Amino acid sequence: MDSLEINKYKYVKNMLSNDMVEYLSSYSVKKALKKENLYDEQVGPLSTSFHSSESEVYHHLLHYLLPIMEKQTNLKLKPIYCFNRIYLPGSDLKRHMDRGACEISASISLAHSYKNEEYKWPLYMGENSVFIKKGDGVIYKGCEIEHWRPTFHQPEGSWHHQLFVHYVNLNGPNAKIEEEKVLDLRPRVNIYE
Ligand SMILES: [Fe+2]
Repeated sequence: MDSLEINKYKYVKNMLSNDMVEYLSSYSVKKALKKENLYDEQVGPLSTSFHSSESEVYHHLLHYLLPIMEKQTNLKLKPIYCFNRIYLPGSDLKRHMDRGACEISASISLAHSYKNEEYKWPLYMGENSVFIKKGDGVIYKGCEIEHWRPTFHQPEGSWHHQLFVHYVNLNGPNAKIEEEKVLDLRPRVNIYE
């Protein structure tokens, strides 16, 4: 049986190439500097996020990753949404499980800039800490396993960029959930002021 079935998550190497990671992170950091990011209700004002419904680039990425997601999960999947988050020092992610729209998800590490270059920041899946290298990802059953991150303990000026893609099983109970394409109008926040 696959580790996704047994453990509710699995580590997958090279989901995105280094070039793709650099392209996406430079794009998102530029968006953040132009104050085009959104308030992030899950981790509060210390971080910032950008939803696929407001970005053709990330909307396409959700579909671009579909073949690797289907191969790794052995499931037929429907893309629902994608977002990316730039974590800033002091932010964390509370222990939680996801809504049905996140039935099959992946958390993929993009670029980061840590003032302390030795620093490593874990994502917890259940009781297990996972360190996701740049371009690698963790595919997980977001509705079945609790996940969280401890506080991002780095000096001012550090950041960590993470990508999240969410799908449902086309042969499962969430198959009727529609892909999210509507413009998100949450208030914007400037993380650099
Ligand atoms: Fe989650």
